[in-house]
Amino acid sequence: MAESWHRTALEHRSALFAGLTTVAISIGGIVEIAPMFMTPLDTTGITPYTPLEVAGRDIYIREGCYNCHSQMVRPLHAETLRYGTWSRANEYAFDRPFQLGSRRIGPDLMRVGGKYPDAWHFEHMRDPRSTSPGSIMPSYSWLHENRVDPADVQASVNALRTLGSPYPADLDVAAAMATQAAGITTRLASAKIQTDPDREIVAMIAYLQHMGLDGKNLYKDQP
Ligand code: HEC
Repeated sequence: MAESWHRTALEHRSALFAGLTTVAISIGGIVEIAPMFMTPLDTTGITPYTPLEVAGRDIYIREGCYNCHSQMVRPLHAETLRYGTWSRANEYAFDRPFQLGSRRIGPDLMRVGGKYPDAWHFEHMRDPRSTSPGSIMPSYSWLHENRVDPADVQASVNALRTLGSPYPADLDVAAAMATQAAGITTRLASAKIQTDPDREIVAMIAYLQHMGLDGKNLYKDQP
C-alpha cells in the first residue's frame, strides 16, 4: 500500500516534524495566554491584606498549611455547593506568593472567611479534634505561645509594597496590628478565651477570617 503524503513528507522527517509541531503548539499557547496578559486585572473591591493578616499569612506559609489545603474553588457545581462562589483571578491580585495549593487532604479554604467565629479557630488550631471529631489535622498549639514581631511584619509589608500592593507610605504597621488584634482578643474574651494580642494565633485568625471574603461579597449574586 502506498504511503500517504503525510507520512513521507512529514512523519519520516523527524526534525522538520518536531519543528512544525512546536510552531503549532506555540500558536495554541499564545492564543490562550496572550489575552490574559493584555486584560488588566480589575481589583475594585479586593482589599490588600492588613499587616496583621500579612503576619498570619507568613505563618500559614511557614507551617506548610498549603500541603493539605487548597485556596481555589473551581467553577464546578459540586464545589460551589460545598464552598461557595468559585474563585476569580482578581481575588489573587495581592497574593504573593499565591497559595492555590495542589492537595486537598483538608477542605479548600478559599471561602473560610466569616464561616466560623474567631473562638472556633482558636480551639481548632489548638486541638482540631475538639471542634472536628476524628480530624487528622495536626495541632498547632505553639501558635498560642509564640509572639509576632512587628519588625518582621514591617519587612513583609515593605516587600509586598515593592511588588505593587497599595500600602500607604506612612502606614504604621505596629499600630494597625495592635488595633485589629485588640478587636479579635475582645471577641475571644466574650467567648471566655484569654490571650495576648501579639500571639501568632491572633494573626492566624485575622488571616483566616479575611480569606475569600472580598470575593464572597463581590460575587454574592452569582453561583
Ligand atoms: C495533615 C493535613 C493538614 C494540615 C497540615 C493542615 N490541615 Fe487544616 N484541616 C485538615 C483536615 C483533614 C481538616 C478537616 C477536619 C477539621 O476541621 O479539622 C482541616 C480543617 C481546617 C479548617 C476548617 C475548614 C472548614 O471549612 O471547616 C481550617 C480553617 C484549617 N484546617 C486551617 C489550617 C491551617 C491554618 C493550617 C496550617 C497552620 C492547617 N489547616 C494545616 C488537614 C490539615
